[in-house]
Amino acid sequence: MATKTLNVGMIGYGFMGRAHSNAYKQVGQFFPSDHKVVLKAACARDEAKAKAFAAQWGYESIETDWRKLIARPDIDVVDICTPNNLHKEIAIAAAKAGKMILCEKPLSMNVAEGEEMVAAVEAAGVANMVWYNYRRIPAVTLAKKLIDEGRLGKIFHYRAKFLQDWTIKADLPQGGQGLWRLDVAVAGSGVSGDLLAHCIDTAIWLNGPMKDVTCLTETFVKERLHNLTGKVEAVGIDDACLFLGRFANGSLANFESTRYARGHKAAYTLEINGEDMSIFWDLHDLHRLQVFDYKDEAKIRGWKSIHVTDNSPDHPYMANWWVPGLAIGYDASFTHQVADFIAGLESGTPAGPTFRDALETQRVLDAILASAKSHQWVNV
Ligand SMILES: NC(=O)c1ccc[n+]([C@@H]2O[C@H](COP(=O)([O-])OP(=O)(O)OC[C@H]3O[C@@H](n4cnc5c(N)ncnc54)[C@H](O)[C@@H]3O)[C@@H](O)[C@H]2O)c1
Repeated sequence: MATKTLNVGMIGYGFMGRAHSNAYKQVGQFFPSDHKVVLKAACARDEAKAKAFAAQWGYESIETDWRKLIARPDIDVVDICTPNNLHKEIAIAAAKAGKMILCEKPLSMNVAEGEEMVAAVEAAGVANMVWYNYRRIPAVTLAKKLIDEGRLGKIFHYRAKFLQDWTIKADLPQGGQGLWRLDVAVAGSGVSGDLLAHCIDTAIWLNGPMKDVTCLTETFVKERLHNLTGKVEAVGIDDACLFLGRFANGSLANFESTRYARGHKAAYTLEINGEDMSIFWDLHDLHRLQVFDYKDEAKIRGWKSIHVTDNSPDHPYMANWWVPGLAIGYDASFTHQVADFIAGLESGTPAGPTFRDALETQRVLDAILASAKSHQWVNV
């Protein structure tokens, strides 16, 4: 039985507001701990929408101004699920109020903002984490285990792609609800901060820091009607972003992201080639890790597909779910993240990525965008 409560104040009720609320509701059932998560308050600017969201997900109360939510003494943890341009202001105010903070990715619009956020949470001494959830898909977590055990040997290549196709239409507007990702003033960047940020976080976690990068970006549709101003305005985001780089361990990075890959919806794949082993993972087949082990006996050597659903500690997180062979989904990565955050509070060893960890991803993002602009290699 949990003896402590963790009162959540949720800001934003969109895609991530729902994903995180679902995780808060699941976590106590599947990952029991000493903390009971309480959905204390949901915040949205529109009162009717806030009430509807609170009723649907079981929040006890609502706020229509995030500042009021942060000022409430009954809120322990502030969850920032707003567009990127609000992360900094909310996080710094929450840190000053002594709240724990779970912030959506990317941490910030740029490195300068991220540094201010790291300074604020560290000065306040509040627990903090960024929702780079793909680390906690069991097959990806297993990849980390294999790498940490040294099974890949020397790593030569890290290859990642995140492909979508939802902005191909030239008459799609930019800005406002649902389309803020196309508005650079709100998103900070395009596919780099939105999609590659995930790939970079996973890469740094699995393969260590990056040293330098060279990047190519393209904005295929140069002008779009802006939903908020009613005017046709220049598009400031990167529609596609391809970069090469070097990791500190000597391996080479090859990353690509676009929203113009017709037929692809959320095609996040990663492949790592080491001297002794290669591994491949695909979000569309998220419970499988493909492995080629050069140390296998030659006559049966080949790519194998591990269904990461074994009910033993060998397969991360899975002992807490169903029986061997039964898959879990995308949503579970958020549940795992909350479970690890709580475990970090209880053990005193914070779960990552903390704001400071996520700042490393921000440094790579700033470097690739600077390189795309200058056409030069840029140190991270
Ligand atoms: N971890 C992931 O896989 C993942 C996936 C999607 C989005 N994200 C990140 O999550 C964040 C939100 O993205 P989303 O897809 O949920 O967006 P969304 O558009 O679905 O939701 C954003 C929410 O923020 C609310 N909001 C905006 N301004 C506000 C304000 N001043 N006060 C209170 N609420 C406000 C909106 O009303 C909306 O409910 C972004 O930073 C995004 O990059 C992360």
